Amino acid sequence: MTTMPQAKYRKDYQTPDYTIDEVDLDIRLQDHQTLVSSRLTVRRQGEHNEPLRLDGEALKLINIELDGEVLSEHRFQVVNNQLQIDDVPEAFELLIITQLDPANNSALEGLYKSGGAFCTQCEAEGFRRITYYLDRPDVLAVFTTRLQADKDKYPYLLANGNKTDSGELENGQHWVSWHDPHPKPCYLFAVVAGDFDLLEDSYRTKHGRDVALQLFVDKGNLGRAEFAMRSLKAAMKWDEVRFNLVYDLDIYMIVAVDFFNMGAMENKGLNVFNAKYVLADAKTATDQDFLNVESVIGHEYFHNWTGNRITCRDWFQLSLKEGLTVFRDQEFSGDMSMRPVHRIQDVRIMRTHQFHEDSSPMAHPIRPDKVIEMNNFYTVTVYNKGAEVIRMLHSLLDEQGFQKGMQLYVERHDGQAVTCEDFVCAMEDANSTELRQFRRWYEQAGTPVLSITESYDASAERYTLHCRQHTAATPGQKKKQAFHIPLRVHFYSDSGELLKLTSDELKNDILQLTEEQQDFVFEKVKEKPVPGLLAGFSAPVKLDYEYQEKQLLTLLAYSQDPFICWDAAQQVYLQAMKKAIAAGSPVQLSQASLDALKHKLENQQSDPALVSLLLQIPSEESLSGEYDVIPVADIHRVCGELKQLLASELEKELKETYSSCHPQGAYQFAPTDIAQRMLANTCLAFLANLKNPEITALLERQFSKADNMTDELAAMQAAVHANHTSADNMLREFAAKWQSNSLVMDKWLATQASAARSSTLDSVKQLTSHGAFSWQNPNRIYSLVATFTHNLAQLHREDGEGYRWLREVIVRLNSSNPQVASRLVTALLQWRRFDEKRQTLLKQELKTLQELPDLASDLYEKVEQSLQ
Ligand code: PHE
Ligand code: ZN
Repeated sequence: MTTMPQAKYRKDYQTPDYTIDEVDLDIRLQDHQTLVSSRLTVRRQGEHNEPLRLDGEALKLINIELDGEVLSEHRFQVVNNQLQIDDVPEAFELLIITQLDPANNSALEGLYKSGGAFCTQCEAEGFRRITYYLDRPDVLAVFTTRLQADKDKYPYLLANGNKTDSGELENGQHWVSWHDPHPKPCYLFAVVAGDFDLLEDSYRTKHGRDVALQLFVDKGNLGRAEFAMRSLKAAMKWDEVRFNLVYDLDIYMIVAVDFFNMGAMENKGLNVFNAKYVLADAKTATDQDFLNVESVIGHEYFHNWTGNRITCRDWFQLSLKEGLTVFRDQEFSGDMSMRPVHRIQDVRIMRTHQFHEDSSPMAHPIRPDKVIEMNNFYTVTVYNKGAEVIRMLHSLLDEQGFQKGMQLYVERHDGQAVTCEDFVCAMEDANSTELRQFRRWYEQAGTPVLSITESYDASAERYTLHCRQHTAATPGQKKKQAFHIPLRVHFYSDSGELLKLTSDELKNDILQLTEEQQDFVFEKVKEKPVPGLLAGFSAPVKLDYEYQEKQLLTLLAYSQDPFICWDAAQQVYLQAMKKAIAAGSPVQLSQASLDALKHKLENQQSDPALVSLLLQIPSEESLSGEYDVIPVADIHRVCGELKQLLASELEKELKETYSSCHPQGAYQFAPTDIAQRMLANTCLAFLANLKNPEITALLERQFSKADNMTDELAAMQAAVHANHTSADNMLREFAAKWQSNSLVMDKWLATQASAARSSTLDSVKQLTSHGAFSWQNPNRIYSLVATFTHNLAQLHREDGEGYRWLREVIVRLNSSNPQVASRLVTALLQWRRFDEKRQTLLKQELKTLQELPDLASDLYEKVEQSLQ
């Protein structure tokens, strides 16, 4: 690194010295010598004599003209990735010509090649890799784009907005021009050029606008694009009905590409998607894949209003668009089907990944204060905790109040680049309320721990909940102030009836915690209730309440809140596993707990999906969240033991459920079928731990007879995760069958990387030379390497081999794709959470990285932060 990467601070925000009103781009696409001419209409903002400073990275500058005159070398300079021009007029036109090498762009930021196609990725700061520009989200311009390329290779030339003109040239080239009437920041700019199969449809908005819908996929994949198209139309409709937000262009395009660092990108009118969130059919995609397609298609579409029409003033405000849009896509998925399943899955992400981030050196508030590399802040905190913060507002204001706030937010800020503060103000003003203390959710990092005890005075018929909240220090934030926490509670009698407890402070089942310590008193309580605390996971906190087993079993049997019901089972498991670790003894479950689970299995018909989820035991990773110093071997042991225990104790019920609940007939993507497959496959995963011929037959039959990927993969995973003797055969057959489908082979890679075998690291290493793997493609790397980093016991091998290999991988990716490298390094940062031996090994790898001569800013920020 010649210059150390510099931190930026939220408090230093200043409005830009200049702004750009119009951009006229002319892009001549070529593998190694793409020429970009950019004509900018620039205007000074405010009274000053500052030079114009444009951002640019890895660019070859060919020419600059100001108001038609070529700028000679002494009129400008390029320093520290900025093009600086002194003495510019009040308003002027600037022409900049740059040359790019997209075919050698392996970082997948800016303009690059994905397979045979050209595409772009500009968020957050990729536009500066295309041309010199004011690359910040508060500069909104109207874009016109002309694309030119070889017609044979690139019959489709796409950009934002509406197509305005096209033509042919004599040398086999053709061109198309596009105009986007909506002013936008450059991070929403996109172009794509390639040869695709095209799925077309249309949608009429409630305002009567006919919108052409176009989905571009790799040749031969048309059949796998239909579900995405259906999801898009459903999302357009849903946003009209629930949010009164209507699409605003005559065309909406989605392009699926194979090489993409993230999930998808909401470029105005031209979304670019990682192919895995578009392509789905029964044979090659699991139920979960279909659900992911639906949610990501929704997410990007919803950005059209929350993100594009109203965008972020600066990148510290990222959660303004991401937290809100995740909340919207979660609600969309919940309204489409299986709300409880989605909610529980979202909670799992919070508890395993977001809580983990909160306890790591990279902990940050949903609105960060300090950033070195913006790409490092596309996090579960900004996205998923951000969505939980919006969800809390929704709980406090209810649907109607929340929608009033949304309406005011859109009225006030359409066409603007704004802040999280503006959003909260709109919510306040529309509801004539104040959210002063609630703002701390934007300011303070960390997971609050909510400790609750109770007292019951039978003679006075008084029941009291004593609540205390505490949030541990995080980097840069020593002392935390109390949060405003909506605590949703339900109360049950011992026999499971819902009790109506009253208190002045209880409204719509919600208690509002605002103090460090607070008591809530309920009068006329005739029997001591069983409290169902944090119903619906009403706040992103850790609940510390000592549930008695009897209470948990009451909630498991009777709770009407699916989250509480599921969580009761999780608590039963966690208590058993923690007890076994503390005592150094084998895991045990009481007969009462086992009977309760049996009862659930025997009565699964009412909600097989929920029964499936509540049977699944916490992952090694989420159990590790319960410890300050993670006992790796113990966690591995007790997770294995608990699976084995449940399998043998519930064998009869698991078998019966397996054979009774598997959907009959051909595969259908329908909620009732999905729920049944979930439960059948959960049963199978447990049963695979019982190594007897009958079960071997079950596994092998499902694997070979399945007419869909959900069941086929579930059988293989069950075998691999249980170290079943059929596993190797299945892996071999699966690879032979699917070798030509890379998205399916990703599942094959991931299954092996997640195996709880001492040989896993060796197989992972070997798989890096398998034809199904590639160091160039992020999906392959995530499937194999990122999955391995979540395999607690195998990554954290005592001999440090897991760490050493991961460090080598990161060094390799540091130069080719730093964003991907940075996602993988996360697993090494938490060295403080391990025993001394592992600490030493981990720190050694981090120091090796720190000393790399060309360490990318993405890795620099995390490694420095971790070693501090
Ligand atoms: N803005 C994208 C989304 O949330 C994510 C993304 C960020 C994609 C940066 C690419 C690069 O949908
Ligand atoms: Zn998003």
